[in-house]
Parts: sequence; structure tokens; C-alpha cells
Amino acid sequence: MSKQTILIIGAAGNNGVATLEALARKQVAGNTDITIRVGVRSEAKAADLRAKFPNVETAILDLDKPETLAAAYVGVDKLFLILGNVEQREAHAKAAIDAAKASGSVKHVVFYSVVGAEYEAILFARQFRAGEKYLEASGLAWTHLRTIFFQENLVGWADGIKQGSFYFGIGEGRFAPLNVGDIGEIAANILTTAGHENKAYNITGPELLSGNDFAQIFSKVTGKAVQYVSPDNATTLSSLTGSGWPEWQAKGLVELFNLFGDNLAAVVTPDGEQLLGRPLTTLEQYVSANKAVFV
Ligand SMILES: NC(=O)c1ccc[n+]([C@@H]2O[C@H](COP(=O)([O-])OP(=O)(O)OC[C@H]3O[C@@H](n4cnc5c(N)ncnc54)[C@H](OP(=O)(O)O)[C@@H]3O)[C@@H](O)[C@H]2O)c1
Repeated sequence: MSKQTILIIGAAGNNGVATLEALARKQVAGNTDITIRVGVRSEAKAADLRAKFPNVETAILDLDKPETLAAAYVGVDKLFLILGNVEQREAHAKAAIDAAKASGSVKHVVFYSVVGAEYEAILFARQFRAGEKYLEASGLAWTHLRTIFFQENLVGWADGIKQGSFYFGIGEGRFAPLNVGDIGEIAANILTTAGHENKAYNITGPELLSGNDFAQIFSKVTGKAVQYVSPDNATTLSSLTGSGWPEWQAKGLVELFNLFGDNLAAVVTPDGEQLLGRPLTTLEQYVSANKAVFV
């Protein structure tokens, strides 16, 4: 088989970089022979990524400008599509998938999505499920890489934790937070091995945790008492918008917190560990490795 070219859109973001790091480790280990192209919005981001990952090719594209896509797709066999944190996720997915089809060379799209997308119960799920459905109907081979709330997001709660309170509005609910480094490794494994066509993977973290469990982990690792406080929806919303979150996104997070609170995502799935070939990172491991952020 000839050398495959993989295009990663969203490559400069958290998951894109985690995937590039995992792919680079595979290349160093001589485990893979692929060309990696990263699609980013500016030459400055392209230069950043070339500095970090000297083996990558770069292409400038913008999902808001579908006319920029064709050139980036030339010779691409596989696309890893990571949508941004934007309200127009559906339009972005459609533009990227249309361009993949039009390229004639792309055979398989790995689509970054969210656990529970298929239930379309909340805005984030509906946004990603629209992309999943469009891809499934496209005739291209597809893989949905569905993930859940990242451990790394908790950096956004560090100020409260430092002052002894973990303000997190999930009531009595539990869910299993997931590590972005693990996701990158899982994505790299999917992108470089066969047999993932037309499958949806549901990736959660390794353990179900309640708000109290989170607080206990922060207490244990930092050595300082941290209490769990579950604010009501209005307080969560105003605190998110007050710290600069766009309203659509803040409302989306409140919906997600309510879903967690109702234990509608209280599941630990086997897919992540199977795709990794090792245990997933626990929250305690993540917080311990990043203790300085939380003390
Ligand atoms: N936080 C969570 O717990 C969680 C869980 C599941 C899913 N998700 C969602 O999963 C996705 C990936 O997460 P992430 O943390 O890796 O996101 P991220 O760090 O925000 O990265 C998203 C990337 O999308 C790019 N992008 C945005 N608009 C674009 C456009 N018009 N054209 C081309 N590229 C564009 C951004 O480019 P620039 O670098 O140029 O800005 C960025 O590199 C996001 O949609 C996120 O909201 C989040």
C-alpha cells in the first residue's frame, strides 16, 4: 500500500496537538509510515506546528470559507475532522465533508464527536450528531470518535479550588471525566490502524465521579480542604458569561451539567481502554501531574 496522507483539521487545538504528539511518538518509534498534514487558519499557527512537529505538512484553511478547502485536501486519504468550539458546528461539518467527497481521494473521515450525540438531547449533542449523520449519508467510510468532558477543563475551576471550593453544578450526578492526552493517543491509533470503518466509539474516562469525589481528589492531591458546592443553573450561567463565555456556549454547558446531574451520562465505556491498550488516566493521576495549577 502506498504511503497514506492524513489531514487533521482543528490541529492547533487541544485534541489536535494531543493527536500530533501521539502520532509523532509513533513515527519516532518507527511504527508508522504516514504523511501528516495539518489544516489551520493562519500561517502563524502553521509555523508553530511546524516548529513543534517538524515532520508535518501544513495547509491554511477556514471552515467558514469552504473555497479554501480543496487545495488542502489534494492527495489526502483520510481526514480527522475536529470541529472548533463554535456555534456553527453543523455548517463546518458539512463544508468539510462536502470537500472530502469532492476531493475524490479522501476515503475515510474520522469525526470528533461527543458521547450521547445519538440521543440529540442537548445542543452540543445535536450539533455533533448533525455532522455524524451528514457523514454517514456521504458514502465515505466514517468513524465517530465520541468523547466526554475533559479532565483538562478543570483548569477553568482552579481559582475556586485554590480557595477551598469546587463550584460545579452537577448536583448529585456522576460522570467519568476523560484525559485529552488519552484521546490523542486513541485518535492516533484509530488513524494508523485498520478496521475502524463505519464504527462509533464512545470514550469516557475510567471512573464515575460525583462532585464530592472530585472535591476529595482535589483535597487529597493539594493537601488543602476543598468542599463541593453545586450552584443553581442561573448562578452557573452568570458565572460563565461573566468570565467571557458566549451565551450559547454557557447555556450549552448548563444543559450538559443538568444531564450529568440527572445521571444520564453516568457510564464508563470499555472503548477507550480497548483502543489505547492500557488503562485510561484517572482524575487523581491528572490532578497529581498538574498539581501546581490547583494549589
Ligand atoms: N471541553 C470538553 O470537555 C469537550 C468534550 C467533548 C467535545 N468537545 C468539543 O470537541 C472539539 C475539540 O475540542 P478541543 O478542546 O480540541 O477544541 P479547541 O482546542 O478549541 O480546538 C478546535 C480547533 O478548531 C479550529 N477552528 C475553529 N474554527 C475554525 C474554522 N472556521 N476553520 C478551521 N478551524 C477552525 C480552531 O482553530 P484555531 O486554533 O485557529 O482557533 C482550533 O484549533 C471542540 O468543538 C470542543 O468544544 C469539548
